[in-house]
Amino acid sequence: MFQKGLKDVVAVHTKIADVIGEKGELQYRGVQVGQLVTQYSFEQILYLLLNGQRPNQEQLQEVQSALLQNRTLPQHVQAIIDALPSEVSLMDAMRTGISAFCDRDFVRKTSNEQAIQLIAALPVIVARHYRNQQGLELIEPDANLNHTANYLWMLTGVSPTEVHVEALETYLKLTMEHGLNASTFAGRVTISTESDLTAAITSAIGTMKGPLHGGAPAGVIDLLNEIGSPENIQPVIEEKMRRGERIMGFGHRVYKTEDPRSVILRDKCLSMSGRDAWLDLATTAEKEIIRLLDKHKPGRKLYTNVEYYAAAIMRSIDMPTELFTPTFSVARIVGWAAHAIEQQQDNTIFRPQSVYVGAFSEKSC
Ligand SMILES: CC(C)(COP(=O)(O)OP(=O)(O)OC[C@H]1O[C@@H](n2cnc3c(N)ncnc32)[C@H](O)[C@@H]1OP(=O)(O)O)[C@@H](O)C(=O)NCCC(=O)NCCS
Repeated sequence: MFQKGLKDVVAVHTKIADVIGEKGELQYRGVQVGQLVTQYSFEQILYLLLNGQRPNQEQLQEVQSALLQNRTLPQHVQAIIDALPSEVSLMDAMRTGISAFCDRDFVRKTSNEQAIQLIAALPVIVARHYRNQQGLELIEPDANLNHTANYLWMLTGVSPTEVHVEALETYLKLTMEHGLNASTFAGRVTISTESDLTAAITSAIGTMKGPLHGGAPAGVIDLLNEIGSPENIQPVIEEKMRRGERIMGFGHRVYKTEDPRSVILRDKCLSMSGRDAWLDLATTAEKEIIRLLDKHKPGRKLYTNVEYYAAAIMRSIDMPTELFTPTFSVARIVGWAAHAIEQQQDNTIFRPQSVYVGAFSEKSC
């Protein structure tokens, strides 16, 4: 059986997350994301995803202190990041930094400790290369700040406001895990060869980089900038449809109704103070674009995906566009690690078949 893009093909059984496309529901380890956003911290969800249960106080403290300890990059990783020219993109710097972690410990069986080491390091790598690119002084981690707040602190050198930390943490919690998406699949394929966690995360970062996956929110900002005002929504979208272009922030392989993450992020954006003309345009454009997509692509059930309001959240906390995909990765690395560990626990190497449809040479006699 041939399924282009492995559409609807079940490739793994997982206990990590359930993405229920027709109902528009997402659960991590059996807990709805709506509940996770309001009742769990990032660190608690991290523990839940890696271990399958909510941490008690002692377990939570262990996770928090492991994250703190691993905020200082090994000397050689610092040197490698500092040696990168500023033209190297943040996603490429992340991939390079993570692959430089591989040592004898990593080539042995993947553990939660290794996962936490890389989860703690990723935002530090992003902040280091970002500040190097901007020619700014590097910022030391702040042991009084949680994972999310410390990320903002190391990027900006300014103590983040509670509103900004909460907005970013909402986004991170919603994007930490999402079943067998392209980057998670890439990571699972890599670890299925009995390779190691640094290799799996490196594969995942390379896959996340593409505009059809992690690169979409920056495309949403470009789209809304191009639209500019409500009267341009229809002509801009009609022209893109005529040219056969994809509208960024819409459509999903699994969700055939509203993406639950998009609904939560939209509510978050609307409830934040400082609602502005840009956000008004985003909410008006959302309705109109769904209508136009339905007109041009009837029956395809194209709705806003998480990236549409991710762009709005990022903009509301003054996150520069080039940091959108790296920030998505800072969240999703938790899911990548959980899946790599799950794959190792019951491994079969991924090796699908291909059907040769190329030219045939003459039979030699
Ligand atoms: C996410 C995405 C890759 C899923 O793609 P998919 O499951 O492979 O869906 P398909 O490519 O088979 O699309 C089905 C149909 O809907 C159309 N379609 C899907 N997403 C579309 C979009 N964003 N804009 C315009 N048309 C779209 C396709 O052109 C196709 O039309 P056809 O049947 O006439 O060929 C796709 O919706 C997309 O490219 N979206 C934009 C990028 C984005 O926002 N990515 C973030 C995902 S979280």
